[in-house]
Amino acid sequence: MKITITGSLGNISKPLTKELLQKGHTVTVISSKAERQKDIEAIGAKAAIGTMEDTDFLSATFKGADAVYVMETLGGAHTFFDKNLDVVGAITKIGNNYKQAIDQAGVKRVVHLSSIGAHTDKGVGMLTFHHNVENILKQLPYDVSIKFMRPVGFYYNMFGFIPTIKAQNAIISNYGGDEREPWVSPLDIAAVIAEEFEKPFNGREIRYIASDEVSPNEVAKILGEAIGKPHLKWLAISDEQFLNGLLAAGMSPQTAQGFTEMNVSRRGGVLYQDYQNNKPTLGKIKLKDFAKDFAAVFNQK
Ligand SMILES: NC(=O)c1ccc[n+]([C@@H]2O[C@H](COP(=O)([O-])OP(=O)(O)OC[C@H]3O[C@@H](n4cnc5c(N)ncnc54)[C@H](OP(=O)(O)O)[C@@H]3O)[C@@H](O)[C@H]2O)c1
Repeated sequence: MKITITGSLGNISKPLTKELLQKGHTVTVISSKAERQKDIEAIGAKAAIGTMEDTDFLSATFKGADAVYVMETLGGAHTFFDKNLDVVGAITKIGNNYKQAIDQAGVKRVVHLSSIGAHTDKGVGMLTFHHNVENILKQLPYDVSIKFMRPVGFYYNMFGFIPTIKAQNAIISNYGGDEREPWVSPLDIAAVIAEEFEKPFNGREIRYIASDEVSPNEVAKILGEAIGKPHLKWLAISDEQFLNGLLAAGMSPQTAQGFTEMNVSRRGGVLYQDYQNNKPTLGKIKLKDFAKDFAAVFNQK
C-alpha cells in the first residue's frame, strides 16, 4: 500500500515507518522541517515537508494514498508553558484540518493516534482534545474507515519526574498508591499500528494499547532501583498543591489545570473506565526495560 505518515521521525512514526517499509509498503513521511528530508530518505521513505496546520499541503500529500496515519502534536512540552496558546483549541483545529484533507484527497483508510480518555469529554482534563478530534473524524462519510488507536500514558512522561527526584528525592504528584495503572512504550504502539495497517479496515474501530500495568509505588521502586536510589518514594500531594506547583514552574493555567484534572481522573477511575472494559493484550516493553532509558537520561542531567 501507499501510506502517508504524520509525526515525522518521532517516537512512534520512526519505528512505524521502518516496519511498514520492511513489510513492503511505500511510505511518505510528513515533517515540518526541510532538514529532516535526508534522514527520512535514508531509511527508505519519501519526505513531504509541511505542517499539520496547512490543510492544502495535507490534502495534496494525502492524495493517492491508500491509507494515512494521523497524529496531532504542537511540537513538544514547551508549548505547555506558552500562556498565549490555547492547546485544546489548537489541537482541535489540527483535527479539523485532517478531516478536510482526508475528505478532499479521497483517502478511505485512516489510522488515528488518539488516547486513553478519548471515550469522554467529562473530567479528563487535557485529554478532552482527543475526544474532540475523534468526534471530528467520525463526521467523515462512513465509507472512510477509521481505526482509533488509544494508547495509555507513555513511559517517556516519566522523564518529567526527574526534577523532583533530583531536588526532593521523591516523585511528586496528586495521585499515588498501590493501584495499578497501564503505561505504554511508543515502540509497542508502532508495532500495533503497523499490524493494523495490514488488517482489514471496517467502519469505525477502537483499540487500546498498553505495555505494562504498575502502581505508582511500584514505579518508584523500579525507577529508584535503576538510578541507584532504591528507597525512592512516590509522594501524593493535594490537587491544590500540585496545581500551584505547575503554575509556579511557569505552566499555562489551561495546561496546569488540564494535567491536574487528568490525574484526578486516574484516581477516580474515570480515565480507565472504558479501558477496563476493553483491555488489550500487553505489549513487549515493560517498565523494567524503560527504566534503563530513564536511568541514562537521569544520569545525564
Ligand atoms: N504522552 C502521552 O502519554 C500520550 C498518551 C496518548 C496519546 N499521546 C499522543 O501521542 C502524541 C506524541 O506522539 P510521538 O511521541 O510519536 O510524537 P513526537 O515524537 O513528540 O512528535 C512527532 C513529530 O511531529 C513533527 N511535528 C511537530 N509539529 C508539527 C507540525 N505542526 N506539523 C508537522 N509535523 C510536526 C515533529 O517532527 P519535525 O520536527 O520533523 O517536524 C515531531 O518530532 C501526542 O501528541 C499525543 O497526541 C500521548
